[in-house]
Amino acid sequence: MTDQDFETIKILAKQRTGIELGEHKKEMIYSRIVRRIRALGMSDFRRYLQYLDESPEAELTNFINSITTNLTSFFRESHHFDFLESTVIPELIKKKKGSNRIRIWSAGCSTGEEPYSIAMTLHKGLNKDRWNAKILATDLDTNVLAHGRAGVYSAERIGNMNPDLVKKYFTGIGDRNASGETMEAKDSIKQLITFNSLNLLGDWPMKGKFDVIFCRNVVIYFSKDTQRELFDRYANILEPNGYLFIGHSESLHGVTKRFESVGRTIYRKVA
Ligand SMILES: C[S@@+](CC[C@H](N)C(=O)[O-])C[C@H]1O[C@@H](n2cnc3c(N)ncnc32)[C@H](O)[C@@H]1O
Repeated sequence: MTDQDFETIKILAKQRTGIELGEHKKEMIYSRIVRRIRALGMSDFRRYLQYLDESPEAELTNFINSITTNLTSFFRESHHFDFLESTVIPELIKKKKGSNRIRIWSAGCSTGEEPYSIAMTLHKGLNKDRWNAKILATDLDTNVLAHGRAGVYSAERIGNMNPDLVKKYFTGIGDRNASGETMEAKDSIKQLITFNSLNLLGDWPMKGKFDVIFCRNVVIYFSKDTQRELFDRYANILEPNGYLFIGHSESLHGVTKRFESVGRTIYRKVA
């Protein structure tokens, strides 16, 4: 991969996903794209980039899937789920006297651990017969969406969760190794979530507003301008006083004034 090849990859990544690839990402990108090049039986980066340019409909999805970073876990940044349970859900129950509609968006949901963690928290805190609660889980990486939809996780991924929650919301599917059994999310939480492909930089087809948006560990790779535009759109699609949860290394400081801080990386829409 020449410097020029990496430059082309950087431009394409930013244009199509908002992700800014720094020099320190060069080796990681090299090893991921080289796998695509081998799978296609090609011999070098120049040929691959030419193919990508000529046939984006055939290769762009694979290219995007290779550059995204999908690290996630169940109840990651657990204080967010504590706040959801102790403050947001009781507030929504009080506020929504005339309506039973609750909508939460997990934007950049990766393999599904985040929306399933939200689903477990909602399921615990709400009377299912009374509430029409739904979680929209979106990502632009099509591989991770398929994983989330299937709701199947290895024992290692499930292992860090509270055993009572695992018992209540997951069922073993028999594939046992030394660290335990592969498990599948039960319908009680699966049916709360809809997984859809969506590029945050593109159009959003959703009609209604959201009460809560989780967009965690996604914008760290975006420029400040891209972040500003995105947070502005989040404010527009949130209900008045709606909540926004962001990742541990992210901040709205100097990016937007449409939210106020109400906790560690937790914001409420003010305008
Ligand atoms: C590091 S993961 C974070 C997963 C989860 N939110 C969490 O905090 O555990 C970031 C996710 O954002 C997605 N992503 C990156 N750019 C995106 C974009 N422009 N539109 C939609 N999703 C994007 C990636 O595909 C990846 O799955």
